[in-house]
Amino acid sequence: MVFFFSVLFVLGCIGILEVSGDRPIELDHEVVLDPVEQSFFLSWGFNKTHIDFEITAKTLGWLAIGVSPNGGMNAADVLLAWVDDRTGKPTVQDRWLIAPSPYSSRTVNLSLDASQDWVLVAGAQSATHTTIRAIRKLVTCDSQDRPFTTDTVRLIFSMNPQDPASPTSIPKHSYRGTRSLLMLSESYLANSVAIDSDAGPETSTLDLLADNVPISTETRTMYYCSLIKLPTFAQKYHVVTTRPVVSPSNEGVVHHVVAYMCNDKIDDDFPEKAFDCTFDKPRPLRDQVMGNCTAVIGAFGIGSEPSHYPPETGFPLTPELSGRYVFLENHYDNPEGKSVTDSSGIGLTLTTKLRPNDAATTMIAYGDISYSMMIPPQVADFATYGRCSANCTSAILPPTGINVIKVFLHTHMLGERIYLRQIRKGKELPPLAKDETYDFNYQEAQSITPSRAVLPGDELVVECHYNSMTRNSVTFGGWGTPEEMCMAFITYYPATPDIASCASWLSMDTILPLTGSPFSPPGIPMSPNQTSELSQRLWQDPSSEDQYRDYMTSAYQWTPQNVMKLQDLYKSAENPAICVSTSTSPAAPVYSIIKPAKYSAYQEPSACPRSKSATSFTSGGRPSP
Ligand SMILES: *[C@@H]1O[C@H](CO)[C@@H](O)[C@H](O)[C@H]1NC(C)=O
Ligand SMILES: *[C@@H]1O[C@H](CO)[C@@H](O)[C@H](O)[C@H]1NC(C)=O
Ligand SMILES: *[C@@H]1O[C@H](CO)[C@@H](O)[C@H](O)[C@H]1NC(C)=O
Ligand SMILES: *[C@@H]1O[C@H](CO)[C@@H](O)[C@H](O)[C@H]1NC(C)=O
Ligand SMILES: *[C@@H]1O[C@H](CO)[C@@H](O)[C@H](O)[C@H]1NC(C)=O
Repeated sequence: MVFFFSVLFVLGCIGILEVSGDRPIELDHEVVLDPVEQSFFLSWGFNKTHIDFEITAKTLGWLAIGVSPNGGMNAADVLLAWVDDRTGKPTVQDRWLIAPSPYSSRTVNLSLDASQDWVLVAGAQSATHTTIRAIRKLVTCDSQDRPFTTDTVRLIFSMNPQDPASPTSIPKHSYRGTRSLLMLSESYLANSVAIDSDAGPETSTLDLLADNVPISTETRTMYYCSLIKLPTFAQKYHVVTTRPVVSPSNEGVVHHVVAYMCNDKIDDDFPEKAFDCTFDKPRPLRDQVMGNCTAVIGAFGIGSEPSHYPPETGFPLTPELSGRYVFLENHYDNPEGKSVTDSSGIGLTLTTKLRPNDAATTMIAYGDISYSMMIPPQVADFATYGRCSANCTSAILPPTGINVIKVFLHTHMLGERIYLRQIRKGKELPPLAKDETYDFNYQEAQSITPSRAVLPGDELVVECHYNSMTRNSVTFGGWGTPEEMCMAFITYYPATPDIASCASWLSMDTILPLTGSPFSPPGIPMSPNQTSELSQRLWQDPSSEDQYRDYMTSAYQWTPQNVMKLQDLYKSAENPAICVSTSTSPAAPVYSIIKPAKYSAYQEPSACPRSKSATSFTSGGRPSP
C-alpha cells in the first residue's frame, strides 16, 4: 500500500518536526480518503494521549478534515488549514460546524473554537498539493471537539482552490467527501505489506474464491454458497493474514464474505458445490452446509482492509484438513440492479513458521434471524440483545479462558451503536468492544490491543441499538440488508475447544401475549396454551408466518407503551439460548433457557471535568441527505 506523493520532504528542510522535545509520533497509518478521485490523503499515528495527522490534498487553497457524529456536516469537529500562497505561512484552525437542515435558509456556521486544540507541526505546498501536519490530544475535553476513540471515526473532508481572504472568512468548499475509518486500530498500517512477508520463504498464499457467480439486473440481495476444496497440507500452517479479494469493479456489489471450515460430513458427494442460497425460502442444501460448516476462518465486509493475526497467534491449517471443504458465503447487495459476474472471496497468507497459539473465531448473536426480532417503526433508540450465558462459557471455555484479539460488530442499516458487554460475577467489565458511531457501509474488525481475557463463567452480551425514524413499518430480523441483525464475531486464542457460536433470542411464546395474533379477536388475552400453539403454527406453516408478518406490519398499533413493553422483553425476559461447540463432530448444540444476568453496569471513568464532558454529545441523529 505505497501510494504517497507527499510534499512533506520539504518539511524536513524546514526542520520544524520536533514538538517540545518529545519523541515524534510515527505516522504509521495511511489511507487515500477518496480512492476514485485520489485527491485527499491522510497518514496518521497516535500514542496513548495524542494523534498526529498529515493531510495532503490536491489544492493550493484551504483543506479541511472533520469528525462527524454520522457522516453529515452538522455538529462536526473540523480542522481547517491552508498555506498562504504569497508568504508560504501555514495556518491551522480548530472549528465547529453547525449545518442547519438542507431545507432551512440559514447558512452553515463554521465557528472558530474558543479553545484551539490542533497544534501545527508543519505545512507546505507544492505546485499542486498542500500538506499540513498537526497534533491534537485524543480527548481535549472541549465541548466543540469530538474525541478520537476506538469507535468508527466518521470523517468528512473538503477543500477549496482559494486561500481564505482573511482567517475569518472561509469560502464554501468546492469538493467534499466522507470516509469511515477505525483510526486507533491496526488497519491501514503503512507497512502491512512487510507484515505479510515477514516470514520470507516460509510464506505462501491461498485464495478461497467464488467462481463466476452470476448477478443479474433483477438481483437485489443474494447470498451465494460455494464449497471450495482445500489442497493437501503436507505440514501444519498458520494463517497470519486474511485479505478481501474483490473482483475488479464489483466493489459496490459485494457486501460481505465469510469463509467457514466444514467438517468431514461435507464431502465430494455433496450434490451441489455452488448455489444461490438466499434466505427467502426453505433451502435444505443451505441448512446442511450451514450445520456442518461452522468454524469461521475469515470474514470481510465493504471497506475492509487486510486483517492480520497478532504475532503470538495464527489460524491453523493442518494435514488433517487436507481436502476438506471450505464454505464461502458471499452476500451481494445490488440496489442499482447491475449485471455482473463475481469471483470474490478471501485471500489467506500462510506461514510454516508456526506461532505459539492457534486462533479461532466464534459468533455471539441474537440467534433467530427472523420475525422474533422486531424493530418498531419511528423509534430513535431501540435495542436487541444476544447473550452468551455464564453456563455456556463455563461449559466450553478452557479453565484458563481465552484471549480475544479481534471483534467484528455487525448490524444492518438501522444500527447506530453496538456494544459487546462482558459480565463477571455480577459486575460489568469495560466493554470488550463498542462502536457508538457504527457505519453499516463500513465493515471492519476492531483489533483488541492488548488482548482481553474471557473466563469460564463470564457472560457476554452483544447489544445493538437501532434508529428506525426512517421507517414507517416494523423491521424484522433477516438476512437482507433492509432487515436487521445483531452479532459480534470474536477472534481469540487458544482455539481449543473450538466454540462455534453462542446465541440467544426471544421466544414467540413471550412475544405473542404482547402483540396478539392475526387469528384471535383483538382485546381478548390469549391463554398460554393458545400462545404456544400459535408459535408452533407460525414456525411450521409459512402462510401463517406471512399473516403474522402482515399483521405486525400493517395492523398492529405501535403505541409508545407497546414499544416500551417490547423493549423490556428484549432487555429482561427469559431467552432460549444455544451453545454450540465444534469439539464434538458433528457440532452438538446445547439448548437452554437463560435469564438475563442482573449486574451492576460499568461506568466509564470521565476523562474530563464534568461540565465539559467529552461524552456528553447527543448522537446527532441521521445525516442530512
Ligand atoms: C505522545 O505524543 C505527544 C505529542 O507528540 C507527546 O507530547 C507525549 O509526550 C507523547 N506521550 C507519550 C507517552 O509518548
Ligand atoms: C455560529 O456559532 C457560534 C458558536 O456556536 C455562535 O456563537 C455564533 O453566534 C453563530 N453565528 C451565526 C451567524 O449563527
Ligand atoms: C451435515 O451433513 C449431513 C450429510 O450431508 C446431513 O445429513 C446433516 O443433517 C448435516 N448436519 C447438520 C447439522 O445440518
Ligand atoms: C393446556 O395444555 C396442557 C398440555 O398440553 C393440557 O394438559 C391442558 O389441559 C391445557 N389447558 C387448557 C386450558 O386447555
Ligand atoms: C446453569 O445450569 C444449571 C444446571 O444445568 C442451572 O441450574 C442454572 O439455572 C443455569 N443457570 C443459568 C443462569 O441459566
